[in-house]
Amino acid sequence: MKKYKKIPKIKNGHWLLGNISAVKDDPLHFYQESIKNYGDIFQFRIGHKKSIFINNPEYVKHILQKNSNSYSRHTGLAPLKDITGDALAVSDGEIWKKKRKLITPLFHKNKIEAYFDNIQGHIESKISDWDKTGEAWLFDSLSSVTLSVISDFTIGEGLEDEREKIENNLLRLFEIAFDRMKKGIPKWLPKTNQKEFNRLANGLNSIIESQIKRRESEEDIKEDLISMLLLASDSGNFKRSEIIGEILSIVLAGYETTSIASFRAIRYILSRPDILEKLKKEFETITKGQKLRLEHLSDFQYTTSIINESLRLSSVIWTIARESINNDVIDGYKIPKGTSIFISPFTMHRNIKYWENPNDFNPERFEKKIEHLYSFIPFGRGPRMCVGSTFSILEMKIIIYHIVMSGYKIMVPEKTKFHQTITLRPKMDVIITKNETKDQIMEREILYDFL
Ligand code: HEM
Repeated sequence: MKKYKKIPKIKNGHWLLGNISAVKDDPLHFYQESIKNYGDIFQFRIGHKKSIFINNPEYVKHILQKNSNSYSRHTGLAPLKDITGDALAVSDGEIWKKKRKLITPLFHKNKIEAYFDNIQGHIESKISDWDKTGEAWLFDSLSSVTLSVISDFTIGEGLEDEREKIENNLLRLFEIAFDRMKKGIPKWLPKTNQKEFNRLANGLNSIIESQIKRRESEEDIKEDLISMLLLASDSGNFKRSEIIGEILSIVLAGYETTSIASFRAIRYILSRPDILEKLKKEFETITKGQKLRLEHLSDFQYTTSIINESLRLSSVIWTIARESINNDVIDGYKIPKGTSIFISPFTMHRNIKYWENPNDFNPERFEKKIEHLYSFIPFGRGPRMCVGSTFSILEMKIIIYHIVMSGYKIMVPEKTKFHQTITLRPKMDVIITKNETKDQIMEREILYDFL
């Protein structure tokens, strides 16, 4: 009989529930402590389910790239299908393959870059709102900018009147879906908040449907996602009924992620005068005092390093989960079919074998080649890598440029705590200001509990 290497097993689990309470209470703490005690691969149980955590980039490459066909999306994401149906982000197998082939070209660099003016317009108008009082709540503002951008990109421009409804319905729908995910409610049990869920979903569906009707009656073909999906459906590649789910899943995948990532990057920049100065110099040298244009962005190299370093430390998506659909062997470790696999960008980005002084914010580390490609996975890697990475990096560059050049400051030190949902969402906001002193701001800082 073939001998396999033994995967270290976490002790102290409950005989029936396994390690479920540790994983649910504070998963990041559980992962970090277990890495210290057991190393870069270990196993535990969630109920009866065998689960393996992996923090070794070569093994991650095996799962996400080399043998990705043997791993599907984790079943924990199933409640999202209540909102999105079999959309790209939550589907698997042949359905996923077909959708990925169809949707990837819609995120091509040229298509994304056509949104430069739109993004610039939204952040400029937000900053001119701030200028009326000389201050604003940063995360709240960034969330509103990124939501405007993504709804223009997906549903189309000119929806000012419906924007508040779109935002409120979406946020509440996602909250209900996350709650269902956390509770792991089985399919056959009645679902929580189903009436409210249906009302919110119907509200969104009718906005999207009216946009579809408008597109159908227009002569010009627009470049937004809804028009592109309609074209695909005309050529028989996509069912009309799938368009709404696809749009919602792209908003879900791209909205909160980009607002958190921009928030974290701005916080890092504005709390470090040395970085702020160097960045301003880059902006001034490249734009030569002219208005920001698309062609400037590719020369913003220090900005790119800052974004990478910020994505490394903030790890907006902190878990990538899979389920093995075949028996597999990784470096002599046996992975039986039906095992849950957990990979965490958060812990991988702090793996001391690949990152020197991992807790320091040091953008210069990205000026040289990183040691192992799979030790840096903010957008995942392999065939399921994020389709929106180019989009969010373009958006972040524009947002960072305008905020840095606007002269707003943050007066209080970083003390952000996070909700561990699908993202690491900040628990509190911070005031960004042009005119107050530190003491005044400190007096007025309020704790925000978003959930
Ligand atoms: C900083 C911002 C973002 C981060 C950190 C991020 C991160 C990720 C990660 C980690 C994955 C999962 C990869 C996997 O499971 O292997 C993913 C998938 C995905 N992302 Fe993003 N994302 C961001 C922005 C966006 C944006 C702006 C969009 C769309 C406009 C988007 C659309 C998607 C979609 C559709 C998928 C599913 C792809 C598939 O399953 O084939 N993301 N993203």
